[in-house]
Amino acid sequence: MLTVAVLISGTGSNLRALLDEAADPEFPARIVVVGADREAEGFSHAEEYGIPTFMVPFAQFATREAWGAELAEQLAVWKPDLVVLSGLMRLLPAALVDEWAPRIVNTHPAYLPEFPGAHGVRDALAAGVAQTGASVIIVDNGVDTGPILAQERVPVLPGDDEHALHDRIKPVERRLLIDVVRRVAAGDLDLAAVAAAPAS
Ligand code: GRF
Repeated sequence: MLTVAVLISGTGSNLRALLDEAADPEFPARIVVVGADREAEGFSHAEEYGIPTFMVPFAQFATREAWGAELAEQLAVWKPDLVVLSGLMRLLPAALVDEWAPRIVNTHPAYLPEFPGAHGVRDALAAGVAQTGASVIIVDNGVDTGPILAQERVPVLPGDDEHALHDRIKPVERRLLIDVVRRVAAGDLDLAAVAAAPAS
């Protein structure tokens, strides 16, 4: 059984979907802990499922590195097989990424490498594209530059604002994330092999 830590910052709707899926005894992964960089609304989903939570408040650390060191200590307590960034709105420091790579994955509300960064939905709208998408990647030391594990297109519709478009992207993100976690857990997706493969 693959053990998973999920890190969030916000509402945790993608976390919720993963928790619901993992409640199925047939699902080959278990969420063992949920962490956040702030008092995140999404903690309530973990609490509902009786899953432990931890918080490492970014604002209380002098540097990103110090924050990351404490996050690394928390993860070391739980020793998950996989770390899922599900709406964690912070860049991880290189030391943490290097320690865990390639076992950190991230969901992103755009079709990478298009529109990386914190405003993927807003940037797609501003660019006036007809379609954007959702991606799940392995985290590396760039901003949304890691190897792509899964992605799917989502059309931009007339009248879309950021909220409406993001609301249509999120269900796709969830489906892709659940599928990636399932495939990693089942041994059908080898993160080390993907990370080692030359970029295409
Ligand atoms: C997702 O779209 C994620 O990719 C982005 O923030 C959103 C998180 O939503 N970085 P939620 O907290 O899972 O509802």
